[in-house]
Amino acid sequence: MAVKMALVTGAGGFIGHHLVKYLLKRGYGVRGVDIKRPEFGESPAHEFIVLDLRFDDACRAAAKGVDEVYHLAADMGGIGYITSSHAGIALNNTMINVHMLEAARQAKVSRFLFSSSACIYPQCLQDKPDVAPLHENAAWPAQPEEGYGLEKLFMEKLCQYFSEDWGFLTRAVRFHNVYGPFGTYDGGREKAPAAICRKIARCSEGGVIEIWGDGRQTRSFMYVDDCVEGIFRIMQSDYGAPLNLGTDELVTIDQLVDIVAETAGKPIVKRHDLSRPQGVRGRNSDNTRLRQVLGWEPKISLRQGITPTYEWVQQRVLGEGVRTTLIAAK
Ligand SMILES: NC(=O)c1ccc[n+]([C@@H]2O[C@H](COP(=O)([O-])OP(=O)(O)OC[C@H]3O[C@@H](n4cnc5c(N)ncnc54)[C@H](O)[C@@H]3O)[C@@H](O)[C@H]2O)c1
Repeated sequence: MAVKMALVTGAGGFIGHHLVKYLLKRGYGVRGVDIKRPEFGESPAHEFIVLDLRFDDACRAAAKGVDEVYHLAADMGGIGYITSSHAGIALNNTMINVHMLEAARQAKVSRFLFSSSACIYPQCLQDKPDVAPLHENAAWPAQPEEGYGLEKLFMEKLCQYFSEDWGFLTRAVRFHNVYGPFGTYDGGREKAPAAICRKIARCSEGGVIEIWGDGRQTRSFMYVDDCVEGIFRIMQSDYGAPLNLGTDELVTIDQLVDIVAETAGKPIVKRHDLSRPQGVRGRNSDNTRLRQVLGWEPKISLRQGITPTYEWVQQRVLGEGVRTTLIAAK
């Protein structure tokens, strides 16, 4: 039997890196594409091409000869980044998504998966910490996160139209806060779990770490191994409408900090900074439909997933210490 070829866009990024490894284990031929080479070591993909997917000729080159497209490339980051860059994010992601979807259709790929986000859900449904989990049907009438969320919602619709009007098989997956090793942990685009791991790894015992907001805002977090398993299962399913992919283990940001500090074995003092963006007040995934469609849902607890994540970030932070010492010794 011929080997199936998968294209992973955003393969130089966090989830893309893990998805490439997952698909290789499943026996796929994998082409990874990104605007930059992976930040943390070489990509294991059979072929890795640096392309700027905002442009249609790049998207056509990326899609040539592949069977399935896992489209993860996006201009994105944590809450600080996505609330401070609406124009750039909306422009870049519109260009990437529209061109990649059409290039995949022209190349006659058999399936196309779009990585959407919980940021598409109405902000008015996320105004308290003990929030009701977000069911897929709650997306409309819409009031998404400005810029990033609005563009994701439009792209979900575009996938639906391509499917209804032109019979092109699409999937739209709404990720809820993914974390794990190989994620950006510094520089302004990092998300809460990685940022907290970094702050605690850099902090001395009993030291103070800064938390954005009052710490009582809530989220659910999904370990990246569950994320790539879910992506693959959804792609292979016969379900084309948008689907949540997340856990429904709701925690406050303070509880997340406590779990990381316990994992690190390091007592710390929290200082809350109310001037920093904290996003919606509460957000959780309703997995009812995911369970119905797949008979499966993410199952790695936050405590389990934080252990390898913290260890990885700590190794990087220790490496920084070594580099600083070497530079100082020169
Ligand atoms: N990580 C999460 O918690 C989360 C939550 C919801 C949705 N998502 C979505 O999942 C996908 C993957 O997220 P991630 O966490 O791996 O992010 P990431 O930033 O690590 O990966 C995205 C990759 O896209 C690449 N990219 C950006 N612009 C590009 C361009 N013009 N051409 C080619 N590549 C380009 C980036 O270089 C990056 O490597 C994104 O679409 C994101 O919006 C992620």
